[in-house]
Amino acid sequence: MKFFIDTANLDQIKEANELGILDGVTTNPSLMAKEGIKGHDAIVKHYKDICEMVDGDISAEVVSTEFKDIVEEGKKLAAIHPNIVVKVPMIKDGVKAIKWFTDNGIKTNCTLVFNAGQAILCAKAGAKYVSPFVGRIDDTGWDGVQLVEQIVHIYGVQGFKTQVLAASMRSPNHIIRCAEVGAHVVTSPLESILGLLKHPLTDVGLAKFLDDAKKLQ
Ligand code: E4P
Repeated sequence: MKFFIDTANLDQIKEANELGILDGVTTNPSLMAKEGIKGHDAIVKHYKDICEMVDGDISAEVVSTEFKDIVEEGKKLAAIHPNIVVKVPMIKDGVKAIKWFTDNGIKTNCTLVFNAGQAILCAKAGAKYVSPFVGRIDDTGWDGVQLVEQIVHIYGVQGFKTQVLAASMRSPNHIIRCAEVGAHVVTSPLESILGLLKHPLTDVGLAKFLDDAKKLQ
């Protein structure tokens, strides 16, 4: 399973990358706005900076909603760096645009996916990634991981090549459960990735080992 970090914060991307386990980055307009990035040039520079830091797929989201505009915007995003994946919303014109990008050798990540039907359309259009939003489904009282499991199953049965990128992670447990059901990629905030490191018995055990090590000197 690949590990992506879900942020536009360069310090957090650097910290995750230095762990040596990072395979890519996902961003969205909300995450970019959170970093105070404003204007076309600043946006392009930010994506370039991320691409130079991490050797892997970097999702950059379009904000257009009409087919022609999505294509134009996506072409410009893809031209920033070979590792850019154009993130396209799950709408009718988005599906048409994903098919166009696929036919023209541009990688896509279909975002805002909340059911299996949407995931089937992404795969048919040839998206490299489909992003079911686990946490946002949980927020509505349903189980987001079950959707990941269902999409992984359907893609396996049908032989679809699209990779299931579990998004909207809220906890280390989400990452573990998505790994269990066969997600190809998980994208998480730094906090959830670092949360995987933690266990109180590890801390207690290490303190004891370090204490006993003093007796060896
Ligand atoms: C990533 O591709 C998504 O945009 C992101 O995971 C959404 O996460 P959120 O539900 O925490 O905003």
